[in-house]
Amino acid sequence: MGMIEISPSILAADFGRLADEIAVVERAGADSIHLDVMDGHFVPNISFGPPVIRSVRNVTTLPLWAHLMIDNPESYIETFAAAGADGIIVHLEVQADASDLCAAIHSLGVKAGIAINPDTGVTGLQETLRRFDRILVMTVYPGFGGQAFMPGPLETIGTVVSWSGMPPVEVDGGVDLKTAPRIIRAGARILVAGSAIFRAPDPAGALKTLRTVAEQALD
Ligand code: DX5
Ligand code: ZN
Repeated sequence: MGMIEISPSILAADFGRLADEIAVVERAGADSIHLDVMDGHFVPNISFGPPVIRSVRNVTTLPLWAHLMIDNPESYIETFAAAGADGIIVHLEVQADASDLCAAIHSLGVKAGIAINPDTGVTGLQETLRRFDRILVMTVYPGFGGQAFMPGPLETIGTVVSWSGMPPVEVDGGVDLKTAPRIIRAGARILVAGSAIFRAPDPAGALKTLRTVAEQALD
């Protein structure tokens, strides 16, 4: 694993041939797989849930990160851990307390991520965010793949990385060859990409080029 981690989001993959799609990005050097779980309540879209994650678990050894865009995540954490998620990402905007969610995830022996929507501020949250294993800054409003990148949250990345001892920052939404350098220069080190990889004519090539472009932005 290098300085940059690439986490393809299967939301943009062809679900009819999901195992093949995952095999392609695994061979191309993906560091993990990003699984977007949507419930039609927390976000206005429905995607997939634990059975799909269980199937993905059976076809890859890559770490699986479940991004829970759902209300009441506390009721489902155990189910997602049992389905084979190595990491569970919950949203700061849900009702439950983020530190409690983090402890609940860790108690299952799973890594914990905290996702932050574009309009959510992080002032005063240093101690809360520090408990997590990664911080997912959203650069689109969650709910759909293929949306345009929002530059505003780059400021949030800058704030978080200016604090000492923070977990790595991951960015999700509109990540592509054009936006990745700005994201990396802002201080993020993990890139989630759906459309830019799976909607490309050559997903393996797209992943490798994305990594190259991101690594060049480190210089
Ligand atoms: C959006 C999801 C993203 C989505 C990103 O709600 O959280 O992970 O798959 O898709 P792209 O990379 O197409 O913006
Ligand atoms: Zn996501």
